[in-house]
Amino acid sequence: MNSKIKSKNRTLREIERKFHLSNDDLAKIISSFHDEMKTGLAGKKSDLKMLPAFTDAPSGKEKGTFLALDIGGTNLRVIEASLSGNGSLKVLRSSKTRIPAALMNGSGTALFDFIASHIAKFLHTKKSGKFKLGFTFSFPVKQKSLASGLLITWTKGFTASGVVGKDVTKLLQMALRRTGLGFVEIAALANDTVGTLAACAYSCQSCDVGAIFGTGTNACYLEKLSKIKKFGGAKGRGSMIINIEWGNFSRLTRNEFDIVIDKKSNNPGKQVMEKMISGMYLGELARIAIGKLYDLGEIELEKSSLRRTGGLHTSQLSALETAKGEKYSEIIGKTGLSGIREEDLPAVAAISRAVVTRAAKISAACLAAVIMKMDPQIARKHTIAVDGALYENHPGFSRTLRNSLKNLLGKNSSGVKIRKTADGSGIGVAVIAAANR
Ligand code: GLC
Repeated sequence: MNSKIKSKNRTLREIERKFHLSNDDLAKIISSFHDEMKTGLAGKKSDLKMLPAFTDAPSGKEKGTFLALDIGGTNLRVIEASLSGNGSLKVLRSSKTRIPAALMNGSGTALFDFIASHIAKFLHTKKSGKFKLGFTFSFPVKQKSLASGLLITWTKGFTASGVVGKDVTKLLQMALRRTGLGFVEIAALANDTVGTLAACAYSCQSCDVGAIFGTGTNACYLEKLSKIKKFGGAKGRGSMIINIEWGNFSRLTRNEFDIVIDKKSNNPGKQVMEKMISGMYLGELARIAIGKLYDLGEIELEKSSLRRTGGLHTSQLSALETAKGEKYSEIIGKTGLSGIREEDLPAVAAISRAVVTRAAKISAACLAAVIMKMDPQIARKHTIAVDGALYENHPGFSRTLRNSLKNLLGKNSSGVKIRKTADGSGIGVAVIAAANR
Protein backbone atom coordinates (compact mmCIF):
# COMPACT_ATOMS: atom_id res chain seq x y z
CA MET A 1 0.00 0.00 0.00
CA ASN A 2 1.51 3.36 -0.94
CA SER A 3 2.14 5.97 1.74
CA LYS A 4 -0.60 8.31 0.44
CA ILE A 5 -3.25 5.63 0.92
CA LYS A 6 -1.81 4.67 4.30
CA SER A 7 -1.95 8.25 5.51
CA LYS A 8 -5.54 8.65 4.24
CA ASN A 9 -6.59 5.45 6.03
CA ARG A 10 -4.92 6.56 9.23
CA THR A 11 -6.67 9.93 9.22
CA LEU A 12 -9.96 8.22 8.40
CA ARG A 13 -9.59 5.83 11.37
CA GLU A 14 -8.83 8.80 13.66
CA ILE A 15 -12.00 10.58 12.57
CA GLU A 16 -14.07 7.41 12.92
CA ARG A 17 -12.68 6.95 16.44
CA LYS A 18 -13.99 10.37 17.40
CA PHE A 19 -17.50 9.07 16.75
CA HIS A 20 -17.00 5.70 18.41
CA LEU A 21 -18.96 4.74 21.52
CA SER A 22 -17.99 1.68 23.54
CA ASN A 23 -20.42 -0.35 25.66
CA ASP A 24 -18.96 1.39 28.71
CA ASP A 25 -19.71 4.77 27.18
CA LEU A 26 -23.32 3.70 26.58
CA ALA A 27 -23.68 2.44 30.15
CA LYS A 28 -22.48 5.84 31.40
CA ILE A 29 -25.01 7.60 29.18
CA ILE A 30 -27.81 5.47 30.68
CA SER A 31 -26.70 6.27 34.20
CA SER A 32 -26.37 10.03 33.70
CA PHE A 33 -29.67 10.07 31.77
CA HIS A 34 -31.32 8.49 34.82
CA ASP A 35 -29.82 11.18 37.08
CA GLU A 36 -31.16 13.94 34.85
CA MET A 37 -34.60 12.31 34.63
CA LYS A 38 -34.84 12.17 38.40
CA THR A 39 -33.70 15.76 39.00
CA GLY A 40 -36.03 16.95 36.22
CA LEU A 41 -39.00 15.13 37.77
CA ALA A 42 -38.18 16.68 41.14
CA GLY A 43 -38.33 20.16 39.56
CA LYS A 44 -34.63 20.78 40.12
CA LYS A 45 -32.22 22.14 37.51
CA SER A 46 -31.72 19.48 34.88
CA ASP A 47 -30.87 19.05 31.21
CA LEU A 48 -34.17 17.21 30.92
CA LYS A 49 -37.25 19.40 31.36
CA MET A 50 -39.53 16.40 32.08
CA LEU A 51 -42.71 18.25 31.17
CA PRO A 52 -46.08 16.87 32.39
CA ALA A 53 -48.46 16.44 29.44
CA PHE A 54 -51.65 16.54 31.54
CA THR A 55 -52.89 13.30 30.06
CA ASP A 56 -52.70 9.58 30.71
CA ALA A 57 -52.44 7.09 27.83
CA PRO A 58 -55.75 6.52 26.00
CA SER A 59 -57.86 3.42 26.65
CA GLY A 60 -58.73 2.74 23.02
CA LYS A 61 -62.42 3.35 23.71
CA GLU A 62 -62.36 7.05 22.78
CA LYS A 63 -64.87 8.07 20.12
CA GLY A 64 -65.65 11.01 17.89
CA THR A 65 -64.43 13.12 14.99
CA PHE A 66 -61.69 15.63 15.59
CA LEU A 67 -59.51 18.09 13.74
CA ALA A 68 -55.80 17.97 14.46
CA LEU A 69 -53.14 20.51 13.66
CA ASP A 70 -49.53 19.41 13.68
CA ILE A 71 -46.71 21.92 13.56
CA GLY A 72 -43.22 20.80 14.26
CA GLY A 73 -40.30 20.84 11.89
CA THR A 74 -40.55 21.77 8.27
CA ASN A 75 -44.21 21.00 7.66
CA LEU A 76 -47.62 21.96 8.88
CA ARG A 77 -50.41 19.40 8.69
CA VAL A 78 -54.13 19.47 9.31
CA ILE A 79 -56.15 16.28 9.53
CA GLU A 80 -59.68 15.24 10.30
CA ALA A 81 -59.69 11.93 12.13
CA SER A 82 -62.50 9.71 13.27
CA LEU A 83 -62.09 7.40 16.26
CA SER A 84 -64.27 4.30 16.36
CA GLY A 85 -64.08 3.48 20.04
CA ASN A 86 -62.60 0.04 19.48
CA GLY A 87 -58.97 0.94 18.94
CA SER A 88 -59.31 1.74 15.28
CA LEU A 89 -59.08 5.20 13.83
CA LYS A 90 -59.36 6.64 10.36
CA VAL A 91 -57.89 9.75 8.81
CA LEU A 92 -60.83 11.20 6.87
CA ARG A 93 -58.92 14.05 5.20
CA SER A 94 -55.53 15.62 5.50
CA SER A 95 -53.54 18.46 4.04
CA LYS A 96 -49.89 19.35 4.37
CA THR A 97 -47.85 22.42 3.54
CA ARG A 98 -44.25 23.54 3.98
CA ILE A 99 -43.66 26.34 6.46
CA PRO A 100 -41.70 29.05 4.63
CA ALA A 101 -38.32 29.73 6.30
CA ALA A 102 -39.20 33.44 6.49
CA LEU A 103 -42.12 32.59 8.77
CA MET A 104 -40.07 30.35 11.07
CA ASN A 105 -37.83 33.32 11.69
CA GLY A 106 -40.24 36.24 11.31
CA SER A 107 -42.93 37.48 13.67
CA GLY A 108 -44.97 35.06 15.76
CA THR A 109 -48.19 36.77 14.63
CA ALA A 110 -47.37 36.10 10.97
CA LEU A 111 -46.56 32.47 11.79
CA PHE A 112 -49.84 31.89 13.65
CA ASP A 113 -51.84 33.73 10.96
CA PHE A 114 -50.27 31.43 8.36
CA ILE A 115 -51.30 28.39 10.44
CA ALA A 116 -54.86 29.70 10.87
CA SER A 117 -55.18 30.44 7.15
CA HIS A 118 -54.17 26.88 6.39
CA ILE A 119 -56.90 25.59 8.71
CA ALA A 120 -59.36 27.98 7.00
CA LYS A 121 -58.49 26.46 3.61
CA PHE A 122 -58.98 23.00 5.06
CA LEU A 123 -62.42 23.94 6.38
CA HIS A 124 -63.24 26.13 3.37
CA THR A 125 -66.95 25.37 3.16
CA LYS A 126 -67.55 25.54 6.89
CA LYS A 127 -68.39 28.96 8.27
CA SER A 128 -69.67 27.97 11.68
CA GLY A 129 -70.54 24.99 13.86
CA LYS A 130 -68.43 23.52 16.64
CA PHE A 131 -65.08 22.01 15.87
CA LYS A 132 -62.75 20.56 18.43
CA LEU A 133 -59.11 20.87 17.48
CA GLY A 134 -56.14 19.01 18.89
CA PHE A 135 -52.96 21.06 18.57
CA THR A 136 -49.61 19.28 18.23
CA PHE A 137 -46.88 21.80 18.83
CA SER A 138 -43.49 20.12 18.73
CA PHE A 139 -41.41 22.37 20.90
CA PRO A 140 -40.73 22.53 24.66
CA VAL A 141 -43.93 23.80 26.25
CA LYS A 142 -44.63 24.11 29.97
CA GLN A 143 -48.26 23.06 30.06
CA LYS A 144 -50.60 24.61 32.59
CA SER A 145 -53.48 22.36 31.65
CA LEU A 146 -54.35 19.97 28.84
CA ALA A 147 -55.13 22.85 26.48
CA SER A 148 -52.70 25.58 27.46
CA GLY A 149 -48.98 25.99 27.79
CA LEU A 150 -46.08 28.42 27.57
CA LEU A 151 -43.32 28.03 24.99
CA ILE A 152 -40.09 27.65 26.99
CA THR A 153 -37.72 28.10 24.07
CA TRP A 154 -37.70 27.53 20.32
CA THR A 155 -35.68 24.62 18.89
CA LYS A 156 -34.96 23.23 15.39
CA GLY A 157 -34.10 26.56 13.79
CA PHE A 158 -37.35 28.39 14.66
CA THR A 159 -36.89 31.87 16.13
CA ALA A 160 -40.28 33.58 15.45
CA SER A 161 -40.55 36.62 17.72
CA GLY A 162 -43.09 37.20 20.49
CA VAL A 163 -43.83 33.53 21.18
CA VAL A 164 -41.32 32.44 23.85
CA GLY A 165 -42.97 32.74 27.28
CA LYS A 166 -46.46 33.02 25.75
CA ASP A 167 -49.38 30.61 25.80
CA VAL A 168 -49.27 29.05 22.34
CA THR A 169 -52.91 27.93 22.54
CA LYS A 170 -53.98 31.54 23.12
CA LEU A 171 -51.82 32.71 20.22
CA LEU A 172 -53.47 30.15 17.96
CA GLN A 173 -56.98 30.91 19.26
CA MET A 174 -56.43 34.61 18.57
CA ALA A 175 -55.18 33.89 15.06
CA LEU A 176 -58.20 31.62 14.46
CA ARG A 177 -60.50 34.50 15.49
CA ARG A 178 -58.68 36.95 13.22
CA THR A 179 -59.21 34.46 10.39
CA GLY A 180 -62.94 34.10 11.11
CA LEU A 181 -62.60 30.68 12.71
CA GLY A 182 -63.63 31.60 16.24
CA PHE A 183 -65.91 28.54 16.23
CA VAL A 184 -62.90 26.20 16.33
CA GLU A 185 -62.13 25.29 19.93
CA ILE A 186 -58.66 24.06 20.92
CA ALA A 187 -59.38 21.00 23.06
CA ALA A 188 -55.85 19.68 23.65
CA LEU A 189 -52.24 20.72 23.22
CA ALA A 190 -49.53 18.08 22.88
CA ASN A 191 -45.94 17.55 21.92
CA ASP A 192 -45.37 15.34 18.84
CA THR A 193 -43.84 12.57 20.96
CA VAL A 194 -46.97 12.58 23.14
CA GLY A 195 -49.19 12.41 20.06
CA THR A 196 -47.13 9.51 18.73
CA LEU A 197 -47.45 7.58 22.01
CA ALA A 198 -51.22 8.23 22.14
CA ALA A 199 -51.78 7.22 18.50
CA CYS A 200 -50.01 3.90 19.06
CA ALA A 201 -51.48 3.28 22.52
CA TYR A 202 -54.99 3.68 21.08
CA SER A 203 -54.68 0.18 19.65
CA CYS A 204 -51.77 -1.19 21.68
CA GLN A 205 -52.08 -1.19 25.44
CA SER A 206 -48.38 -1.96 26.06
CA CYS A 207 -47.31 1.27 24.36
CA ASP A 208 -45.71 3.51 26.99
CA VAL A 209 -42.98 5.38 25.10
CA GLY A 210 -43.20 7.73 22.10
CA ALA A 211 -40.08 8.85 20.26
CA ILE A 212 -39.36 11.09 17.29
CA PHE A 213 -36.29 10.86 15.08
CA GLY A 214 -36.93 13.52 12.47
CA THR A 215 -35.83 17.13 12.02
CA GLY A 216 -35.45 17.10 15.80
CA THR A 217 -35.43 14.28 18.33
CA ASN A 218 -37.27 13.72 21.58
CA ALA A 219 -39.22 11.12 23.58
CA CYS A 220 -41.98 10.86 26.15
CA TYR A 221 -43.10 8.05 28.43
CA LEU A 222 -45.77 7.09 30.92
CA GLU A 223 -44.81 7.94 34.50
CA LYS A 224 -46.57 7.11 37.76
CA LEU A 225 -48.16 10.23 39.26
CA SER A 226 -46.49 9.45 42.58
CA LYS A 227 -43.05 9.83 40.94
CA ILE A 228 -43.70 13.26 39.41
CA LYS A 229 -42.51 15.10 42.50
CA LYS A 230 -42.62 18.59 41.02
CA PHE A 231 -46.21 18.25 39.90
CA GLY A 232 -48.54 19.58 42.56
CA GLY A 233 -51.34 17.27 41.52
CA ALA A 234 -49.18 14.19 41.74
CA LYS A 235 -51.51 12.34 44.02
CA GLY A 236 -53.43 9.20 43.33
CA ARG A 237 -52.53 6.03 41.56
CA GLY A 238 -52.77 6.98 37.93
CA SER A 239 -50.08 7.92 35.49
CA MET A 240 -49.28 10.80 33.21
CA ILE A 241 -47.27 11.15 30.04
CA ILE A 242 -44.03 13.08 30.53
CA ASN A 243 -42.40 14.90 27.62
CA ILE A 244 -38.71 14.40 28.38
CA GLU A 245 -37.33 16.96 25.85
CA TRP A 246 -34.27 14.75 25.56
CA GLY A 247 -32.74 16.75 22.71
CA ASN A 248 -31.29 19.01 25.39
CA PHE A 249 -29.38 16.20 27.16
CA SER A 250 -25.76 17.35 27.33
CA ARG A 251 -23.85 14.76 29.39
CA LEU A 252 -22.24 13.36 26.25
CA THR A 253 -18.66 13.63 25.06
CA ARG A 254 -18.57 16.09 22.21
CA ASN A 255 -15.86 15.93 19.53
CA GLU A 256 -14.37 18.84 17.57
CA PHE A 257 -17.06 18.49 14.87
CA ASP A 258 -19.90 18.69 17.39
CA ILE A 259 -18.38 21.88 18.70
CA VAL A 260 -18.24 23.43 15.22
CA ILE A 261 -21.87 22.61 14.46
CA ASP A 262 -23.02 23.91 17.83
CA LYS A 263 -21.20 27.22 17.37
CA LYS A 264 -22.76 27.71 13.94
CA SER A 265 -26.28 26.98 15.22
CA ASN A 266 -28.74 29.64 16.38
CA ASN A 267 -28.93 28.06 19.85
CA PRO A 268 -25.29 27.41 20.87
CA GLY A 269 -24.86 25.31 24.02
CA LYS A 270 -28.45 24.05 23.81
CA GLN A 271 -29.99 20.87 22.38
CA VAL A 272 -26.58 19.15 22.53
CA MET A 273 -27.95 15.65 21.98
CA GLU A 274 -30.34 16.79 19.23
CA LYS A 275 -27.31 18.14 17.33
CA MET A 276 -25.69 14.66 17.52
CA ILE A 277 -28.79 12.77 16.42
CA SER A 278 -31.43 14.51 14.40
CA GLY A 279 -32.05 15.04 10.72
CA MET A 280 -31.54 18.76 10.91
CA TYR A 281 -27.89 18.30 11.88
CA LEU A 282 -26.53 14.87 10.85
CA GLY A 283 -25.77 15.72 7.21
CA GLU A 284 -23.92 18.87 8.18
CA LEU A 285 -22.06 17.06 10.95
CA ALA A 286 -20.84 14.44 8.46
CA ARG A 287 -19.93 17.17 5.98
CA ILE A 288 -17.78 18.97 8.58
CA ALA A 289 -16.01 15.71 9.54
CA ILE A 290 -15.43 14.81 5.86
CA GLY A 291 -14.07 18.34 5.41
CA LYS A 292 -11.25 17.47 7.78
CA LEU A 293 -9.97 14.82 5.36
CA TYR A 294 -10.00 17.48 2.65
CA ASP A 295 -8.28 20.07 4.85
CA LEU A 296 -5.49 17.58 5.53
CA GLY A 297 -5.08 16.98 1.80
CA GLU A 298 -6.25 13.36 2.02
CA ILE A 299 -9.19 13.66 -0.39
CA GLU A 300 -10.15 16.01 -3.21
CA LEU A 301 -13.37 18.01 -2.85
CA GLU A 302 -12.53 21.21 -4.71
CA LYS A 303 -15.50 20.92 -7.07
CA SER A 304 -17.86 19.25 -4.65
CA SER A 305 -21.02 20.60 -2.97
CA LEU A 306 -19.47 19.28 0.23
CA ARG A 307 -17.37 22.45 0.37
CA ARG A 308 -20.51 24.49 1.10
CA THR A 309 -22.38 24.79 4.40
CA GLY A 310 -25.53 22.69 3.99
CA GLY A 311 -23.94 20.88 1.02
CA LEU A 312 -24.72 17.44 2.44
CA HIS A 313 -28.25 16.68 3.52
CA THR A 314 -29.17 13.94 6.01
CA SER A 315 -31.30 12.25 3.32
CA GLN A 316 -28.14 11.94 1.18
CA LEU A 317 -26.46 10.03 4.00
CA SER A 318 -29.30 7.51 3.72
CA ALA A 319 -28.86 7.31 -0.05
CA LEU A 320 -25.13 6.82 0.41
CA GLU A 321 -25.73 3.89 2.68
CA THR A 322 -28.41 2.17 0.63
CA ALA A 323 -26.23 2.55 -2.47
CA LYS A 324 -23.39 0.58 -0.86
CA GLY A 325 -22.00 -2.09 -3.16
CA GLU A 326 -23.33 -0.44 -6.33
CA LYS A 327 -21.16 1.06 -9.08
CA TYR A 328 -19.57 4.45 -8.47
CA SER A 329 -21.69 6.17 -11.14
CA GLU A 330 -24.88 4.66 -9.73
CA ILE A 331 -24.04 5.71 -6.19
CA ILE A 332 -23.28 9.24 -7.32
CA GLY A 333 -26.53 9.30 -9.30
CA LYS A 334 -28.59 8.02 -6.38
CA THR A 335 -27.13 10.36 -3.80
CA GLY A 336 -27.01 13.43 -6.02
CA LEU A 337 -23.51 14.17 -4.73
CA SER A 338 -21.11 15.62 -7.24
CA GLY A 339 -17.40 16.37 -7.44
CA ILE A 340 -16.29 13.35 -5.37
CA ARG A 341 -13.61 11.15 -6.93
CA GLU A 342 -14.20 7.42 -7.13
CA GLU A 343 -11.22 6.67 -4.86
CA ASP A 344 -12.54 9.08 -2.21
CA LEU A 345 -16.09 7.75 -2.04
CA PRO A 346 -15.36 4.91 0.44
CA ALA A 347 -13.90 7.40 2.93
CA VAL A 348 -16.88 9.76 2.52
CA ALA A 349 -19.26 6.83 3.07
CA ALA A 350 -17.29 5.56 6.08
CA ILE A 351 -17.49 8.92 7.86
CA SER A 352 -21.21 9.20 7.10
CA ARG A 353 -21.71 5.75 8.58
CA ALA A 354 -19.71 6.63 11.72
CA VAL A 355 -21.87 9.73 12.29
CA VAL A 356 -25.14 7.82 11.83
CA THR A 357 -23.97 4.87 13.96
CA ARG A 358 -23.17 7.14 16.87
CA ALA A 359 -26.57 8.84 16.55
CA ALA A 360 -28.34 5.48 16.63
CA LYS A 361 -26.35 4.22 19.62
CA ILE A 362 -27.01 7.34 21.70
CA SER A 363 -30.73 7.04 20.81
CA ALA A 364 -30.75 3.39 21.88
CA ALA A 365 -29.01 4.19 25.17
CA CYS A 366 -31.59 6.86 25.99
CA LEU A 367 -34.51 4.60 25.05
CA ALA A 368 -33.00 1.86 27.24
CA ALA A 369 -32.71 4.39 30.07
CA VAL A 370 -36.39 5.32 29.73
CA ILE A 371 -37.55 1.68 29.74
CA MET A 372 -35.36 0.88 32.76
CA LYS A 373 -36.64 3.95 34.60
CA MET A 374 -40.21 2.64 34.29
CA ASP A 375 -39.39 -1.01 34.83
CA PRO A 376 -35.83 -1.76 36.05
CA GLN A 377 -36.17 -5.55 35.65
CA ILE A 378 -38.09 -5.24 32.39
CA ALA A 379 -40.72 -7.49 33.85
CA ARG A 380 -43.54 -6.10 31.69
CA LYS A 381 -44.08 -5.68 27.96
CA HIS A 382 -43.26 -2.29 26.50
CA THR A 383 -43.95 -0.85 23.07
CA ILE A 384 -42.05 2.17 21.81
CA ALA A 385 -43.97 4.16 19.20
CA VAL A 386 -41.52 5.76 16.78
CA ASP A 387 -41.98 8.30 14.01
CA GLY A 388 -39.74 10.61 11.96
CA ALA A 389 -37.96 10.61 8.62
CA LEU A 390 -34.58 9.60 10.03
CA TYR A 391 -35.99 6.38 11.47
CA GLU A 392 -38.26 5.83 8.50
CA ASN A 393 -35.79 6.41 5.68
CA HIS A 394 -32.39 5.51 7.06
CA PRO A 395 -32.04 1.73 7.35
CA GLY A 396 -28.59 1.99 8.95
CA PHE A 397 -29.95 4.22 11.70
CA SER A 398 -32.98 2.09 12.53
CA ARG A 399 -31.03 -1.19 12.34
CA THR A 400 -28.25 0.02 14.64
CA LEU A 401 -30.79 1.52 17.03
CA ARG A 402 -32.73 -1.76 17.30
CA ASN A 403 -29.61 -3.93 17.70
CA SER A 404 -28.06 -1.62 20.20
CA LEU A 405 -31.27 -1.39 22.25
CA LYS A 406 -31.48 -5.17 22.34
CA ASN A 407 -27.89 -5.46 23.61
CA LEU A 408 -28.41 -2.79 26.23
CA LEU A 409 -31.62 -4.33 27.57
CA GLY A 410 -30.06 -7.77 27.82
CA LYS A 411 -32.00 -10.95 28.50
CA ASN A 412 -35.46 -9.43 28.79
CA SER A 413 -35.17 -7.37 25.63
CA SER A 414 -37.70 -9.53 23.78
CA GLY A 415 -40.49 -7.90 25.80
CA VAL A 416 -39.66 -4.52 24.29
CA LYS A 417 -40.97 -3.79 20.80
CA ILE A 418 -40.61 -0.82 18.52
CA ARG A 419 -43.65 0.11 16.44
CA LYS A 420 -43.46 2.58 13.57
CA THR A 421 -46.34 5.00 14.01
CA ALA A 422 -46.38 7.08 10.85
CA ASP A 423 -48.03 10.50 11.29
CA GLY A 424 -48.92 9.55 14.84
CA SER A 425 -48.15 13.02 16.14
CA GLY A 426 -51.23 14.56 14.50
CA ILE A 427 -53.60 11.63 14.88
CA GLY A 428 -52.54 11.16 18.50
CA VAL A 429 -53.57 14.62 19.61
CA ALA A 430 -57.09 13.86 18.33
CA VAL A 431 -57.04 10.76 20.54
CA ILE A 432 -55.89 12.87 23.48
CA ALA A 433 -58.65 15.41 22.88
CA ALA A 434 -61.19 12.57 22.85
CA ALA A 435 -59.72 10.91 25.94
CA ASN A 436 -60.01 14.03 28.05
CA ARG A 437 -63.35 15.55 27.14
C1 GLC B 1 -37.31 19.26 19.32
C2 GLC B 1 -38.42 19.84 20.19
C3 GLC B 1 -39.27 18.76 20.79
C4 GLC B 1 -39.77 17.84 19.69
C5 GLC B 1 -38.61 17.29 18.89
C6 GLC B 1 -39.05 16.38 17.74
O1 GLC B 1 -36.42 18.56 20.11
O2 GLC B 1 -37.85 20.65 21.20
O3 GLC B 1 -40.37 19.31 21.48
O4 GLC B 1 -40.50 16.79 20.26
O5 GLC B 1 -37.87 18.37 18.35
O6 GLC B 1 -39.86 17.05 16.84
